[in-house]
Amino acid sequence: MKATARARANIALSKYWGKANVELNLPAVPSVSLTLDKLLTETTVHFRSDLDDDRISLDGTLVQGRPRERVVAVLNRIRERAKLDRAAEVWSKNHFPTAAGLASSASGFAALAAAATAAADLPFRAREVSAVARQASASAARSIYGGFAELPRGTDRSSDTLAAKPLHGEDHWDVCMVIALTVLGPKEVSSTEGMERSRRSSPFYDAWLDAAPKLNRRLKAGLRKRDLVAVGEAMEQSTTAFHATAFAAHPSILYFQPPTIAALRTVRALRNRGIGAYATMDAGPHVKVLCEASSARRVAGALRKAEGVQKVLITRPGSGVELR
Ligand code: DP6
Repeated sequence: MKATARARANIALSKYWGKANVELNLPAVPSVSLTLDKLLTETTVHFRSDLDDDRISLDGTLVQGRPRERVVAVLNRIRERAKLDRAAEVWSKNHFPTAAGLASSASGFAALAAAATAAADLPFRAREVSAVARQASASAARSIYGGFAELPRGTDRSSDTLAAKPLHGEDHWDVCMVIALTVLGPKEVSSTEGMERSRRSSPFYDAWLDAAPKLNRRLKAGLRKRDLVAVGEAMEQSTTAFHATAFAAHPSILYFQPPTIAALRTVRALRNRGIGAYATMDAGPHVKVLCEASSARRVAGALRKAEGVQKVLITRPGSGVELR
């Protein structure tokens, strides 16, 4: 009863921000993502008859508190489904090319859901694994698939089964996501907390709920045609609209740092020089830039010169979860 899975992080092109139901972890808006090749998590789950309690380690350190509860909740779901009464030993390792700053719950929960499903001898159905990952962290649902995936918004009827679905494989479009790492360290406000605070107190929250599905539709239409301008413009507006919503919450949530602005200005300057480059950001200060693969080196070179940018990585579309 032991299995290992690998999953990669994904970056949302149109953002998930806000929950339709906190308990069921249902997103209030649809999102589309790109799974990346380089940011990989490998997780082994072993259900053992000789263990009293789950033992979870991440990068060699025992996990405690709230992060442990989130992992145990995934294990419980799998145990319930498999009618299994065994504690699990879980080892997880992030193979990220650089240390702090990009640790992602998406690759982690996708690998965990897949490894636990296989270790419990349940049939591997991508949709079901995606739904389990989504309950832990909604963005993780998208990392089950390679290339471009969509997580629809949740409704009460879709409670337990809401999952991401594949849109286009990793060979659909020869693009890169160039990542500019700015200020390293843990995020100031978790996405879960940021979303709830935005819902409770941001005067822009309803406008965001109204705009997000339209931006998502525009983005998907552009993606089908591999139209960088259409995708890039919808992607940037999805990011600016969600950050504006969070910034207007009370207390205000500000994920930007000075090098974030420098990187965003660099992206605009690249466009003024005729290079197709568009920025997106998550709940943190790093800037991720979408461009054609043929311009990735130039984009990376410009971002390296932006004041305060610590490191730049060029990533490509990556594959979905793999059992080993
Ligand atoms: C800004 O998936 O981390 O990266 O479901 O509460 O765990 P929870 O949130 P999470 O949120 C990701 C938010 C985002 C946008 C995105 O990835 O779509």
